[in-house]
Amino acid sequence: MPDLHDATRGRLLYGADYNPEQWPEETWQEDVRLMRQAGVTTVTVGVFSWARLEPTPGAYEFGWLDRLLDLLHAHGIGVVLATPTASPPPWLGHLHPETLPRAENGTTVWYGSRNQFCPSSPTYRRHAAAITEQLAARYGAHPALVMWHINNEYGTHCWCDATAAHFRRWLRDRHGTLDGLNSAWGTAFWSQHYADWDEILPPRQAQYIRNPAQLLDFARFTSDALLECYTAEHAVVARHSPAVPVTTNHMPFWRGQDGWAWAKEQDVVALDIYPDPADALGAQHGALVQDLARSLAGGPWMLMEQAAGAVNWRPVNRPKPAGLMRLWSLQAVARGADAVCFFQWRQSRQGAEKFHSAMLPHSGPRNRVYREAAALGADLDRLGPAVAGAPVPADTALLHDWDAWWAGEQPGRPSELLDYRENVTAWHRALWEANHTTDLAHPAADLTRYRMVVIPSLYLLTDTALDNLAHYVRTGGTLVCGWFTGVADHQDRIRPGGVDARLLDVLGLAAVHQWWPLNEGETLRCTGTEDFPSSLWAEELETAGAETVARYADGDLAGLPAVTRHAYGAGAAWYLSTRPEPDALRALLTRAARAAGLRPTVEGLPAGVEAVRRGELLFLLNHGPEQAKCEVPGHWDDLLTGHRLAATVALERHGAAVLRPAAP
Ligand code: GAL
Ligand code: ZN
Repeated sequence: MPDLHDATRGRLLYGADYNPEQWPEETWQEDVRLMRQAGVTTVTVGVFSWARLEPTPGAYEFGWLDRLLDLLHAHGIGVVLATPTASPPPWLGHLHPETLPRAENGTTVWYGSRNQFCPSSPTYRRHAAAITEQLAARYGAHPALVMWHINNEYGTHCWCDATAAHFRRWLRDRHGTLDGLNSAWGTAFWSQHYADWDEILPPRQAQYIRNPAQLLDFARFTSDALLECYTAEHAVVARHSPAVPVTTNHMPFWRGQDGWAWAKEQDVVALDIYPDPADALGAQHGALVQDLARSLAGGPWMLMEQAAGAVNWRPVNRPKPAGLMRLWSLQAVARGADAVCFFQWRQSRQGAEKFHSAMLPHSGPRNRVYREAAALGADLDRLGPAVAGAPVPADTALLHDWDAWWAGEQPGRPSELLDYRENVTAWHRALWEANHTTDLAHPAADLTRYRMVVIPSLYLLTDTALDNLAHYVRTGGTLVCGWFTGVADHQDRIRPGGVDARLLDVLGLAAVHQWWPLNEGETLRCTGTEDFPSSLWAEELETAGAETVARYADGDLAGLPAVTRHAYGAGAAWYLSTRPEPDALRALLTRAARAAGLRPTVEGLPAGVEAVRRGELLFLLNHGPEQAKCEVPGHWDDLLTGHRLAATVALERHGAAVLRPAAP
């Protein structure tokens, strides 16, 4: 199977979504000239071109795309060619309303925006396959083609009748018999027993709390249904161009797709990343999503979209101050990106995204954004040969699983304040601030190469995952496990005793007697080797062998253990039954890391400076508000400036250095 290297060929790809159908063809000449000047290597074309390519059913117009690809090729610019199936033309919905999604309450989701397709509609799939076939047959051997891009940010849901039929087929595969389904869904509850497959529906709008196991299966099903759409188009393009890698771009930390399952089907993992420039923790959001992308890919990945400046979909959309676009782009490269691309090349004058930034803004190439984009193109060109393909070593893994996310965020739970993504972000932040490079890993993955594994909270853990964790700790690993973990089995049944017995054994706990969610703004004091306030959640624990690291000092649980540590086999297992405030969480994870023999990438860096190793290179990235002086013992060549440095590296605000060890 081809992979990202087949597209990069040892350099870093640099470019953007390019939507030339929004412009008269005269503009294209200026586009390619300015692209060349900015160091653009590759553009993504055709993402939203279906109505232009097939203006009426079965009547194709490829002349403009022929001219475009030839023009790009003549200027040495590669093409990531998209199938346009994310945004069907109005005629499809008009002639075939059954291709339009139905919401939970049965209302139709109309055309006039984008993404109005039902993944289970045979008619949609037939038309999507036909336009894909046409594109693949025509351009599969075009010399400009470097990659295929299927659809865009798969994320639609549908509750229609075709979906119902498709869901039933999926359920038959999973549960075999109606008895199996009734047992898995616990339909003895509230008289929900199904006597006939035809009675089963996607979880549509209902009177009160819907069956959580049904909701969980529907989330799994929807991810699979969308993945079928992806693999169907992937198969078509691969048949015509077997050596060209195929991808689709995911939204960052997106709930709707099981990324682990998807990544297995993609030649290239591609993500879209849009941290808020006004968010003081924007860089950490970027780091988290980049770590996820690298982990899904198992190596280099593609930053398919980022903003050159402001987006247009937040309540308030701030541009990026000078240097920030470069800093965040280099951060992605540090964390494994071999392609850095934007949405989009030229800022639109019409349509829903006319206020969204682009590499080439409304005011043209004199704009700072374009000049910075061109400077970044030169930086990436210089870095490419030293960076492309290089691995990012990580000693720590954070366990993440969509199944646990879906199951854990059902209605009817102990606290609606538990927010899966927010919690993962908090734990990742603690490791990021301490400069411990962290992979994300599936709980059933081989964890033996990590010295420390952390679980912010995984409500659902399969038997395989639980055995895996026990094995990991027994054979010498350090596990730091957060609250409300190991509670449900693969079908969202609560484990006997409330928490799985294998996990309790590893943690040295006899039981978790009560979950004790805290109200918004409520804090508890914890005392021990560390004193800290905690919030969100607490638990009434009974230990069985674990030592108490910190106790609850006030509130209903005063005197009971809050944080514990247990020697198990050759390893150690920590348990946090409450959420420490950020500094304390960082202190606890740092302590566990030190005990596991881990050291930060670079010790003693000023706050706000991120250090990441990639291959033999050391990236230093200053996210702080002012200049930072970093002590990095040794002699280095800064690949960005060409300067030789010894021991001290000064980074301006938004400054970065990419250091290679030099002979003294
Ligand atoms: C992405 C999408 C792009 C563009 C961008 C704007 O979600 O893939 O087409 O809409 O957001 O930020
Ligand atoms: Zn549908």
